[in-house]
Amino acid sequence: MTTEDAATTAAIDIVTRQAVDSLRTTADPRLRDLLTALVRHLHAFARETRLTQGEWADAVGFLTATGGACTDTRQEFILLSDVLGLSMLVETVHGHSAPGTTESTVLGPFHLTESPARELGDSIDLMGDGEPCVVSGRVRSADGTPLPGAVLDVWQADAHGFYDVQRPDLQPPGNGRGSFTAGAEGGFWFRTCVPSPYPIPTDGPVGTLLKASGRHPYRPAHIHFIATAAGHAPVTTHIFVAGDAHLDSDAVFAVKDSLVKDFTPTDDPSLAREFGVPNPFRHARFDVVLERS
Ligand code: BEZ
Ligand code: FE
Repeated sequence: MTTEDAATTAAIDIVTRQAVDSLRTTADPRLRDLLTALVRHLHAFARETRLTQGEWADAVGFLTATGGACTDTRQEFILLSDVLGLSMLVETVHGHSAPGTTESTVLGPFHLTESPARELGDSIDLMGDGEPCVVSGRVRSADGTPLPGAVLDVWQADAHGFYDVQRPDLQPPGNGRGSFTAGAEGGFWFRTCVPSPYPIPTDGPVGTLLKASGRHPYRPAHIHFIATAAGHAPVTTHIFVAGDAHLDSDAVFAVKDSLVKDFTPTDDPSLAREFGVPNPFRHARFDVVLERS
């Protein structure tokens, strides 16, 4: 690595100062702060790494390809933000939960605004080819008050690690999805299959980046939830299957210890009959605690 002479250092400082100064006229003060910090950090990055013109051109090519991979149903830029840890960083800076309440984590790209409304106890596994599983729990306020009427929007990948929208030819729409309304005492339960770990999409520029970094693309098995209740802040979260091999290396850094749950193997024919699942099955318990708004 070469170091520049004093004249070059001065010229570099001038470029940075001019670029920062050019933003003074930005009318929106927050936008001015964001752009100014962005320019300062980008310039610091180029200085620290002594970014070459060829590398800069490669980076432009990469970002161009990232934009080119975006469609109505695929957001490669969000995926890029996910694998660089930026999505989880923003979530961590702003999504902090009050002590004792359910922690949040990333939304991910597979949420649909309309999950099919289902009755408590319904199955969201419309394929029926996975390991049977019951998820149950209660929704309550941080002070312990039960929250009947709370809504849980749930979505997960199937037993093969794919969301319905990824394989519309193989899965019916709404497979792995459901919107449940908590009953008396805030209780809820539904039937499903045990989710599988799955790779995030790797057939675009983000996949190329993961490969170049020697990183695997897997997310540990999980079920997504958005919990909402009147008078409370909603929470967007997942539960992760305890024991999953990828808990310590989630491709998008979204695991929080409090969200790792036992999916307990259960061999109890009468309980299985009560739940309407084949025996044996797995049972995950998840209590959702919301903060008053
Ligand atoms: C997901 O869990 O659905 C997900 C999150 C971030 C990137 C890709 C998938
Ligand atoms: Fe997911």
